[in-house]
Amino acid sequence: MMNNNICEEFGEEELQSLRIQWDKIVHYQHECFGLKLFLRLLDLHPEYLCLFGFTWDEFNYHETIRLRAHGVNVMYMLNMLFDNLNDMDMFDEMICKLIRLHLMRGIQKSWFDDICEPFETVLKDFSQKLNIEHPEFIRKAFMFVKNRIQQLYDENLTEILLDQNSDTSETY
Ligand code: HEM
Repeated sequence: MMNNNICEEFGEEELQSLRIQWDKIVHYQHECFGLKLFLRLLDLHPEYLCLFGFTWDEFNYHETIRLRAHGVNVMYMLNMLFDNLNDMDMFDEMICKLIRLHLMRGIQKSWFDDICEPFETVLKDFSQKLNIEHPEFIRKAFMFVKNRIQQLYDENLTEILLDQNSDTSETY
């Protein structure tokens, strides 16, 4: 019988290659992938500027340390998720935490579609610079993360609402 905790989407060799390549990108000293990713997102979607505490007319966000720190956070989060693609229980647990982080900020699940083009663009750029052999492994893993976030989004929203409900009823 199949163990349903094992993800069948990714082969062992593919995962190994994915991790080595992602590590290269994460530790590239000259440019921050995560920063570039969100700069591209904000260039395409200035309506998201306010989520990060920027105003519409503020163009110095390109240099801000806050966005860079966030970009680094995102990279390590993806690193952690990629490291756990062979353990779906752990993976889903991490995804749920990530969903809650975004739910609390009023981010909607459809907005995660908007990160795909920026990811693709920055990945292409870095793949050339760093001689990444299989960018398609990275693309596939990222899309897997993004799709799982969107699949589990509503479930988490419901749970939060139910939690809040039971919290308030306990006080009576
Ligand atoms: C797969 C895609 C994504 C990943 C892996 C990710 C990851 C993270 C992580 C790890 C954090 C917490 C760390 C921190 O606050 O610095 C975070 C916060 C945040 N994320 Fe995401 N995120 C993703 C997509 C998005 C998208 C599409 C949006 C907006 C449309 C977004 C908006 C935010 C905002 C506004 C914060 C709070 C930042 C702050 O307070 O400075 N994220 N994200």
